[in-house]
Amino acid sequence: MASYNLKINGKAMQVEAEPNTPMLWVLRDNLDMVGTKFGCGIAQCGACTVHLDGTAIRSCSLPVAAVGNRSITTIEGLSETGDHPVQKAWLEEDVPQCGYCQAGQIMNAAALLNGNPNPTDEDIDIAMKGNLCRCGTYTRIKKAIKKAAASQTKA
Ligand code: FES
Ligand code: FES
Repeated sequence: MASYNLKINGKAMQVEAEPNTPMLWVLRDNLDMVGTKFGCGIAQCGACTVHLDGTAIRSCSLPVAAVGNRSITTIEGLSETGDHPVQKAWLEEDVPQCGYCQAGQIMNAAALLNGNPNPTDEDIDIAMKGNLCRCGTYTRIKKAIKKAAASQTKA
């Protein structure tokens, strides 16, 4: 076991963990932040997506020892009041079905819009293709991303 000082959702947090423990399990088991979901565990589904210094990454494949001073943002920290433009658009478009993949979808979409506030259909397809949804909510996801982009451009 080793001790790690992490910056998560803007707060300093200390955890004891084996160096190779994936951040997904540090978040869920050590810190009780269960918004980030386990899907495949091998970086193939996107359910565990969080931001590392603003970039979308798969937390199932990021060992805690590799985080260092970088900031992690989870779905719990995307917006304190749940009103990030992507979250608002998700509600308006009624995107989720079972909901399981949705935290990862939202985190991936938010990272996309950070880097590209006005994505084309193709940009969205490329950015979101690693986030799987077994309920097939892809059409609504795309609509919601466009809506969030439009609302940010207007703001
Ligand atoms: S659980 Fe991390 S990508 Fe599937
Ligand atoms: S909403 Fe069910 S897996 Fe995506």
